[in-house]
Amino acid sequence: MPLVTSREMFKKAYEGGYAIGAFNVNNMEIIQGITEAAKEENAPLILQVSAGARKYANHTYLMKLVEAAVIETGLPICLHLDHGDTFELCKSCIDGGFTSVMIDGSHHSFEDNIALTKQVVEYAHSKGVTVEGELGRLEGVEDDVKVKAEDASYTNPAQVEEFVTKTGVDSLAIAIGTSHGAYKFKPGQKPQLRFDILEEVEKRLPGFPIVLHGASSVIPEFVETINKYGGKMPDAIGIPEDMLRKAASMAVCKINIDSDLRLAMTAAIREHFVEAPSDFDPRQYLKPARENIKRLVKHKIVDVLGCSGKA
Ligand code: G3H
Ligand code: 13P
Ligand code: ZN
Repeated sequence: MPLVTSREMFKKAYEGGYAIGAFNVNNMEIIQGITEAAKEENAPLILQVSAGARKYANHTYLMKLVEAAVIETGLPICLHLDHGDTFELCKSCIDGGFTSVMIDGSHHSFEDNIALTKQVVEYAHSKGVTVEGELGRLEGVEDDVKVKAEDASYTNPAQVEEFVTKTGVDSLAIAIGTSHGAYKFKPGQKPQLRFDILEEVEKRLPGFPIVLHGASSVIPEFVETINKYGGKMPDAIGIPEDMLRKAASMAVCKINIDSDLRLAMTAAIREHFVEAPSDFDPRQYLKPARENIKRLVKHKIVDVLGCSGKA
């Protein structure tokens, strides 16, 4: 099966009350860990590439690694640009074989966001590629940009119909209190999401797929391992998994996860070097890193997203 767009996946996910995992990829071991887990669970999959990942690993390398994963797994895999910020970047990914792109115009005014998103949609749709837009702004770190808490803003449900109608986007990322990175809530703060906003969006856009960014749970096991083996991470708090399960049962069809992968990988590598300090064979530490990623992704597919067996 060749790479697929998100269209069919989202339709089935919406109707089935589950979500697809959208995992960020940067190298071969990450791609292998994720896709091996999805294969064993027969789960649909979105692999997403940020501008930073593309700069780090090179478009062609990532493209070919993902093509290899399609051959190895036989799964429906969608290759998606995460947080595209210009028409040119989106076009370059579309021309280079991606089957889905995000144009993140959330830092612009409502009108400019519509104009930019519409431009990307027109080009993408002419090539059979699906597009995710964003309304509302998440706190946290994306690439080199850090959005401060005071600059973050919840999605205004009153704007979603106009945005979707005028742009023609295929899915919409909204801000309901999730954020990028490992420090989503302050120590002692009770994690909360604005499910009332999600409900209102769902009412205004019946049947339309919604996307949740910044959805890592920051699994304590990995943070504890990192700190046990020499790391110095302060209290890190993510999105509780029961909230993600609830979102997946609602209109949320795509749940973005990157930080959890980073933590899983780092925990394994830190542990390896403390247990085997004289080791210098990269395979010896990248192998447990890949295994941790696989274990994490299986857990997400089975226990959080509900997409096991849905490929
Ligand atoms: O939302 C951002 C993702 O975690 C990607 O992060 O831009 O550092 O690759 P990155
Ligand atoms: P996390 O930092 O919570 O993993 O979010 C990832 C993300 O939203 C990628 O677009
Ligand atoms: Zn994101």
